[in-house]
Amino acid sequence: MTRRQALNRAREMLAEANIEDAPLESELLLRHILQISQVELYQDPEREIKPAQEEKFWSLVKRRLSGEPTAYITGHREFYGLDFYVDPRVLIPRPESELLVEKTLALAQTHPAAAIAEIGTGSGAIAISLALNLPQANIYATDISEAALKVACFNCQQHDVADRIYLLQGDMLEPLPEAVDIMVANLPYVSQAELSRLSDFEPQLARNGGADGLAQIEKLCQQVSGKLRPQGFLLLEIGQGQEKAVTALLRSLFPSAEIELFPDLSGIARVVLLSLTTPPP
Ligand SMILES: C[S@@+](CC[C@H](N)C(=O)[O-])C[C@H]1O[C@@H](n2cnc3c(N)ncnc32)[C@H](O)[C@@H]1O
Repeated sequence: MTRRQALNRAREMLAEANIEDAPLESELLLRHILQISQVELYQDPEREIKPAQEEKFWSLVKRRLSGEPTAYITGHREFYGLDFYVDPRVLIPRPESELLVEKTLALAQTHPAAAIAEIGTGSGAIAISLALNLPQANIYATDISEAALKVACFNCQQHDVADRIYLLQGDMLEPLPEAVDIMVANLPYVSQAELSRLSDFEPQLARNGGADGLAQIEKLCQQVSGKLRPQGFLLLEIGQGQEKAVTALLRSLFPSAEIELFPDLSGIARVVLLSLTTPPP
């Protein structure tokens, strides 16, 4: 069977199973087996695949059809133009979280040596994307999951930022050694009811936001005061429809702060930005 034939067949199978983006996913699986780039794949589509490779490829397609995410099968996920190692110890970074990185980088333009904390770092994708774009920043990345931090540590080494990101294990803001200028968090925000309808390949700890999905975000907001410097910024990723509740909570906790919402590419309010306006003493 040629590369083209294998790709076409896999695309059909994934599309029949209603897997979104079947063409891209089949390509990622085939490239993973052949260990080739996209350019190499399309330069020589009529090349025959060796029988052993073909057998492995169909076993991966079968795993994908059973619901396992492609990123866990290949061990890779692209985020903010960078390659990250992922496995079931961490959430697979989502494209919509790139908005959190973009907004943080825009704020950091005026604070290049800012102290930044990412709470709930998972694979480390957000903290590492920030570190690579802000060489002077001092970055803390925390997670309650020791297993997730092992993945983040590996990714920090892969991207050569292990000496610039301080990985800290603990609950919410408890492990932070100092107040920071910018705090960023993509905490679990899926409600328990919604969670029971989703595939269970990703860690519950990374997705479970309690009965209404807001438990972890609320917990963080309650702890922010004292861990965010005067004129500091808090950026939160939120789930669809959570903007009113989160804005109301922040308004009650920080009556004089500015609050802004930013939509993702689908028009869903995805990032909440809280700007503390208190001037330094
Ligand atoms: C939605 S995932 C986000 C992972 C990563 N930041 C990303 O955007 O791909 C949430 C992360 O928060 C962590 N987490 C959950 N509860 C936490 C808590 N109480 N304190 C710190 N981290 C927590 C989870 O282990 C998980 O890694």
